[in-house]
Amino acid sequence: MKINYQETTNDLLTRIDIHNKYGGRNIDEWMLDLLKIQKGSKILDVACGAGKQVTSFYNHLAGNCDITGGDVNADLLSQARQSTTDNKIQAKFIDLNFNQKFPLDDNQFDLLSCCFAIYYSEDIPFTISEMHRVLKPGGRLFTSGPMPDNKKMFYDIIREATHKTIPPMPGSSRYGSEILSAIQARFSKVDVNIFENPLTFDSVEPFLSYTRASISEDRKLWNSIFDTHDDFEQVMKNIETVAKAWFARDGKLVMTKVVGGFVATK
Ligand SMILES: C[S@@+](CC[C@H](N)C(=O)[O-])C[C@H]1O[C@@H](n2cnc3c(N)ncnc32)[C@H](O)[C@@H]1O
Repeated sequence: MKINYQETTNDLLTRIDIHNKYGGRNIDEWMLDLLKIQKGSKILDVACGAGKQVTSFYNHLAGNCDITGGDVNADLLSQARQSTTDNKIQAKFIDLNFNQKFPLDDNQFDLLSCCFAIYYSEDIPFTISEMHRVLKPGGRLFTSGPMPDNKKMFYDIIREATHKTIPPMPGSSRYGSEILSAIQARFSKVDVNIFENPLTFDSVEPFLSYTRASISEDRKLWNSIFDTHDDFEQVMKNIETVAKAWFARDGKLVMTKVVGGFVATK
């Protein structure tokens, strides 16, 4: 499956910030609680973005670990390097592309995490076999991603505002099905955990900022619902009108994230 997607630093950081401000729960705390990682672990965070999970692992283990983050996006990698240096976090960062052999030896890592990203792989079985290859025997893979009923309100508002079919998302359309099956086929044991996090917006603005940073033209995931920049702005205006009507009716907007956390053992 050809994936026409490009994350931008600004959009990613905007969405992370909105989760932090309006979410009822903290997903990294949930992940750490689930994984119970031992001090001294050797960890690889694939598709590390701006370094969110690298930072969480390092702080949780009080620096008693060996962490590498890898990503295909040079801008996000440089953001990750800068923010870890600023926060005195010791981590290595490498260029790593899901669609190519990882530049790493076999049987290296105790834990390999891949948060909100595996579904951007163009060849899921290949990427999973690379993840399996670099893990030590008995090592664990952790992935997170959207389950089918993730963010129902967000999609309902966009549908009502545009009268268009929502383009199939690389994540929610296959994470809980095709991707879970591929992990089960390669690993000896897989546990499925569900995390629900309601984001409660007490005004329309943060929901609109979240929407802009999700359907943004730069990310190239939603371009089937608008052609030009003016179209994009018109879609955003229509979304604002519908969101305001929902807000007037309900007194708040609640968008619930429904995330699957798969823990697989090699
Ligand atoms: C939604 S972001 C998640 C980043 C980070 N894990 C987090 O949760 O903040 C998706 C990440 O996948 C990365 N990505 C997309 N395609 C990739 C590929 N082919 N190989 C490696 N990383 C990729 C993007 O650059 C981006 O950092």
